[in-house]
Amino acid sequence: MTFDTIIRGGTIATAADTVKCDVGIQGGKITALGANLGEAREIVDATGHLVLPGGIDSHVHFAQPSGPGIVMADDFESGTRSAAFGGNTMVLPFAVQQKGESLRQVVKDYHAKADGNCYVDVSFHLVIVDTSERVLGQELPALVNDGYTSFKVFMTYEGMALSDMEMLNVMAVARETGALVMVHAENYDAIRFLTDRLERAGKTAPFFHGPSRPIPIEREATHRAISLAELVDVPVMIVHVSNGEAMEEIRRAQQKGLKVYGETCPQYLVLTEQDLEGLNMEGAKYVCSPPPRDKKSQSECWKGLQQGVFSVFSSDHCPFRYDDPQGKLTPKGRTSFRWVPNGIPGVETRLPILFSEGVKKGRISLNEFVALSSTNHAKTYGLYPKKGTIAVGADADIAIWDPDRSVTISQSLMHHNVDYTPYEGIEVTGWPVSTMVRGRFVVRDGKLTGAKGDGEYVSRDKSPLATPSGTGMF
Ligand code: URP
Ligand code: ZN
Ligand code: ZN
Ligand code: ZN
Repeated sequence: MTFDTIIRGGTIATAADTVKCDVGIQGGKITALGANLGEAREIVDATGHLVLPGGIDSHVHFAQPSGPGIVMADDFESGTRSAAFGGNTMVLPFAVQQKGESLRQVVKDYHAKADGNCYVDVSFHLVIVDTSERVLGQELPALVNDGYTSFKVFMTYEGMALSDMEMLNVMAVARETGALVMVHAENYDAIRFLTDRLERAGKTAPFFHGPSRPIPIEREATHRAISLAELVDVPVMIVHVSNGEAMEEIRRAQQKGLKVYGETCPQYLVLTEQDLEGLNMEGAKYVCSPPPRDKKSQSECWKGLQQGVFSVFSSDHCPFRYDDPQGKLTPKGRTSFRWVPNGIPGVETRLPILFSEGVKKGRISLNEFVALSSTNHAKTYGLYPKKGTIAVGADADIAIWDPDRSVTISQSLMHHNVDYTPYEGIEVTGWPVSTMVRGRFVVRDGKLTGAKGDGEYVSRDKSPLATPSGTGMF
């Protein structure tokens, strides 16, 4: 037996085990694990390195229309390139509907943006904005069956927020079709109320984005989303949870036996509201929703990761250039935080931050790191065991890490198309050095070796985590 590739001498870690063994790869799949596997066209020496399932970032935004005059910095090419350098082999961006738009057309448009342009594999979540009968009755169920098996709904944002009635109707479709609903939980009316008050008081700098959406706004919406899901008896994923109070809502539901899942992100572990203090317009670099909170919230988010309340750790990479009239500093954005596009980049720094702050500092085990960064994403979104693990039969999606390399995160190291990183100056230990997608190196020893088009679109199964519990009220 001759393999295409053998990765030799490394330490393999999955969500369950850590073992020293070699990986045999044939036809883009892992076909053997063990010692003395035999011959290969290429032997990759991984001595002293970790061999991990490639990261799966199940929450990123690329090439999304973001309002008049605003352009998202990363398209599928630069976004997936940055992802590959960050040790990721797959990303799940959103295909976002606009009011009145056919969902079929949305999917077509995003395929046109992505197909042939990606360095790592991709699959889409849908964002449902229009809840008309045509969309919920016909298009959405058909798309779920075609492999678009998750969708996000927003409880805030002009032009995107759904009413409770609309949320219930979308959740009912998920229950009938077996799709997984993701919820952006913030109270829209309360944000508008506070934003008006802040502006009237002349508090318009980017710093006031945080005070316009304090913790009760997120906690209340989290509670409401969970209650609506309980009524419909449908599992839900609460995305980008920023603090302990919202996290406790999720924990309480989980302890009741409800299928409620949680996601948190790097910004809630290493940034705080204070990072914007005294920065004036430069504070726009940190404007995202929900906003980073305080040190106490950071340690509560760590607890959520350690105790399994959060099962996925994603970047919420949502890239806008800072010093650019099409980015954070739009002419309108200079007049009030209200107009600063929300979102920060992070697809390339997600894994080094979690590895360094988590594994190296003893907060989580290496196996928990793999679960939170890859395996649980695959299980949650209908990709497992093709993706998310190192096992015979799985796709050869592998990241090779140098666990001891110390790096100071800096914009000069990034491969995104943003002009800053909000994590500038953070020192990490542990860095992904090579990334292999389906048996081919996209990044090798820190250099781009892949080509756009190496990444493929992946149609997804229904999530085994999305089945209702059978306790519904109708
Ligand atoms: O500020 C953020 N997170 N922007 C991205 C869109 C979203 O809500 O996930
Ligand atoms: Zn969101
Ligand atoms: Zn997002
Ligand atoms: Zn090395």
